[in-house]
Amino acid sequence: NAMLQWQRTGFHFQPEMNWMNDPNGPVYYRGWYHLFYQYNPEGAVWGNIAWGHAVSRDLVHWRHLPLAMVPDQWYDINGVWTGSATVFPDGTLNMLYTGSTNASVQVQCLAVPEDPNDSLLRNWTKHEANPVLLPPPGIGDKDFRDPTTAWFDESDQTWRTVIGSKDNNGHAGIAMVYKTKDFLNYELIPGYLHRVDGTGMWECIDFYPVGGKNGSEELYVIKESSDDDRHDWYTLGKYDAAANTFTAADPENDLGIGLRYDWGKFYATKTFYDPAKNRRVLWGWIGETDSERADVAKGWASLMSIPRTVELDEKTRTNLIQWPVEELETLRIKSTDLGGVTIDHGSVYPLPLHRATQLDIEASFRIDTATVAALNEADVGYNCSTSGGSANRGALGPFGLLVLADGKAEQTAVYFYVAKGLDGTLQTHFCHDESRSTLARDVVKRVVGYTVPVLDGEAFSVRVLVDHSIVESFAMGGRSTATSRVYPTEAIYGAAGAYLFNNATGGSVTVEKLVVHEMDSSYNQIFMADDL
Ligand code: FRU
Repeated sequence: NAMLQWQRTGFHFQPEMNWMNDPNGPVYYRGWYHLFYQYNPEGAVWGNIAWGHAVSRDLVHWRHLPLAMVPDQWYDINGVWTGSATVFPDGTLNMLYTGSTNASVQVQCLAVPEDPNDSLLRNWTKHEANPVLLPPPGIGDKDFRDPTTAWFDESDQTWRTVIGSKDNNGHAGIAMVYKTKDFLNYELIPGYLHRVDGTGMWECIDFYPVGGKNGSEELYVIKESSDDDRHDWYTLGKYDAAANTFTAADPENDLGIGLRYDWGKFYATKTFYDPAKNRRVLWGWIGETDSERADVAKGWASLMSIPRTVELDEKTRTNLIQWPVEELETLRIKSTDLGGVTIDHGSVYPLPLHRATQLDIEASFRIDTATVAALNEADVGYNCSTSGGSANRGALGPFGLLVLADGKAEQTAVYFYVAKGLDGTLQTHFCHDESRSTLARDVVKRVVGYTVPVLDGEAFSVRVLVDHSIVESFAMGGRSTATSRVYPTEAIYGAAGAYLFNNATGGSVTVEKLVVHEMDSSYNQIFMADDL
């Protein structure tokens, strides 16, 4: 449907057409970044799940390859579901994935590259011993999926992988650990790595170390994708390998409670370690918030997030930092410095841009200290999602940016809202208001966001990636992120603009920094053999 073409993105990863969900087995292999993903080759809705495959030299420019695996065995005929890559010390790798059998039982399966010398990993052999792991006693046939990347445990010289499930007694999400020497025979380690009551089925668990640099103590991250609320929750804590337990550092921020990778639409993420740049990189599936009917009409559904580096915030040690991989900056084609202005309370300021559908915006704001000092307790109970969004005026907010805005009917607001407690401390909320993002009616429009740490002396900073139908924001250097799918009908092509706004009733806001980069397209392409 050509009418909906403008919704396609310029620099986000997406297949040529049809349905996509979870990122699978992301890995760096012999000079190429590989991204596999859940894909329906036959339509724009979930089903017939196979593994799509693309490769890149830089995580920005992608080439689509033929499907890596399709449902063609009794043990995965109902879908080649989510899985992870494990790289061995000798540089070879394998994939452990979930098969949905002919009886819809979730089993784990092993696949290996047919030719390890093919750096493009085009052909995969499903092991003849498949399935290699069945649901254990007490676990539901449909509650056993998404094995993690394995790690090596020196103490008993075995590989360990985590599989998510739920414990039907307590409606608790659980993480089970298996040990294996050969990826064919597995032993369940008694007890759970982690378990949290009331969180339901844990999909797509991820488990990895962070920190530990320059003498700081290493922590572990465990992440679960909650099938109940469809959000990716993480927490930081300690891993005791001998006891096979993970313990959250702050029980008040355990899984399902306080820490989400992203406050918008963002699910079924997976990280991988990138040895080329010594960093951990996170991929997230960004689903649609329009109707299935609209997806069928446009012929595709879902995007991948911009790949994000993920690391421990050494300043707080209570949250992660996520940031677009540095390679994204190679797409900046025209940069405009608009910083230094002051925006009065109750005003909107249009940005003089040539084109505003593909942007990378870096902004930081300071609020007038006299206003802050003069203010008594204000908005202590504020909550992005139950507030009235950017139209809801308070003493110290909202202020920020309006993107994919036409100055009339449509806009997506990206903003801060500061509350002041009785004790004088400030609490900062970072939100996206989608309620006016489109005139279309068949769209879920919400206000999303949460509180974000702002330390003494720090400005309110945000980086916003705008790409036709997606707004992906990183607040306070990546301490908090929010992603919105938006479907403008008027604010498209040349009619799309961007604005600064300060809708506070209190003082003015100084825009300390504002650099707007217009972004080139990454031109994803079908892979040609002679491109090599
Ligand atoms: C998460 C998920 C996984 C499953 C896959 C199936 O979105 O439901 O648990 O393996 O998608 O496509």
